[in-house]
Amino acid sequence: MNNRTLAIIKPDAVRDNVAGKIISKIIDAGFKIKAMKMTRLTNDSAGGFYLIHKNRPFYNDLVEYMSSGPCIPIALERENAVSEFRKLIGATDPNEAAEGTIRKLYAKNKAENAIHGSDSDENAAIEIAHFFSRKELLENYNG
Ligand code: RTP
Ligand code: MG
Repeated sequence: MNNRTLAIIKPDAVRDNVAGKIISKIIDAGFKIKAMKMTRLTNDSAGGFYLIHKNRPFYNDLVEYMSSGPCIPIALERENAVSEFRKLIGATDPNEAAEGTIRKLYAKNKAENAIHGSDSDENAAIEIAHFFSRKELLENYNG
């Protein structure tokens, strides 16, 4: 399966009231929303989601940031979803992100960077399951 990815509109972008603009860009780029919710992560949930970065110096700040307010996880579908979505969001650091990308437009800096995108098909499946049950995905199925 290479047609699904998980996006998260991160707490800074929700706080800045740009979630709607970001969702519009995602839809305009040809992604279909399969499931979406607004939720505030606990420290444990944010820590678990980014467990891969546990030994990085920015891990504690990342967990604090991701649990600092509500975020919007979105399960997305499109051909080559992971790579096409990473193109749409741009580089981790907005100073390095291409013009027109979501991070170039809305990220504050390398840490508070507005949006998450899965980095592989395998992680996309794990990350979608972190936020959405099979039942939720089926109930929200919209063709
Ligand atoms: P993401 O997983 O959120 O889509 O971001 P990414 O792949 O572009 O970057 P990654 O290396 O996976 O880092 C995850 C998130 O950690 C924060 N970060 N802060 N202060 C720093 O140097 C630093 N580096 C990374 C960012 O929020 C980044 O998106
Ligand atoms: Mg990543």
